[in-house]
Amino acid sequence: LAGPAASGSLTGRHALVTAGPTHEPIDPVRYLANRSSGRQGYEIAAALAALGARVTLVSGPVDLPPPPGVTLHRVETARQMLAACRDALPCDIAICAAAVADWHVAQEATSKIKKTAGAPPPVLTLVPNPDILADLSAPGPTRPALVVGFAAETDTVGQHAAAKRQRKGCDWIVANDVRPETGIMGGQENEIILITDTGAEPWPRMDKHAVATRLAGRIAAFFTPDMP
Ligand code: CTP
Ligand code: CA
Repeated sequence: LAGPAASGSLTGRHALVTAGPTHEPIDPVRYLANRSSGRQGYEIAAALAALGARVTLVSGPVDLPPPPGVTLHRVETARQMLAACRDALPCDIAICAAAVADWHVAQEATSKIKKTAGAPPPVLTLVPNPDILADLSAPGPTRPALVVGFAAETDTVGQHAAAKRQRKGCDWIVANDVRPETGIMGGQENEIILITDTGAEPWPRMDKHAVATRLAGRIAAFFTPDMP
């Protein structure tokens, strides 16, 4: 006889995943954003759901279908992403895969900024966005048992990522090299270094689906260490 369909090694756990870019409006037709397809975050959300977790996915604007079995909250800005994440608490696992814009425009124009012949171009004043990963990692009653951040770097990847893990207060960092020549940004494949409290573990290059499956397996093992 088959067991319950939704049963898995993360059954009963709630996972929160952020994915995609954020868009920070300049005026009604323009925005600031990071490059991000959202693919790796969506794959992770799907992989955690496949292991039985209840998954809340908070996503910036991406061109991807909602993963099956996942509750999707669509947001646009970093401030909205933080609010949606806080609303989703408590959770056992938080994975911040989003490429959050570091700043937003101080004064969003309510109507389209027009070019005026001879006038100097507009100057944008930027103010910092909230750091969602640091917020979720901060000690407190709703601090998830496992918080995982990402570090997309273009040089000395391992060092930058290890420093980022300390600075943010998260438990693990998934680090990758996003120099354009690696083809990782926007591509189907990823090559990561998993940084935990016990050190840095380079994984071979594999497709983003395989990275997500393996990461979900590691998370399941974190909660059930004696699992085969
Ligand atoms: N992150 C976040 N909120 C932000 C900025 C980043 O949640 N406002 C998260 C990302 O989702 C990622 C991690 O923090 O998991 C690292 O993001 P990254 O941009 O590499 O780090 P920063 O601290 O912003 O440093 P920098 O961009 O200067 O390298
Ligand atoms: Ca950043």
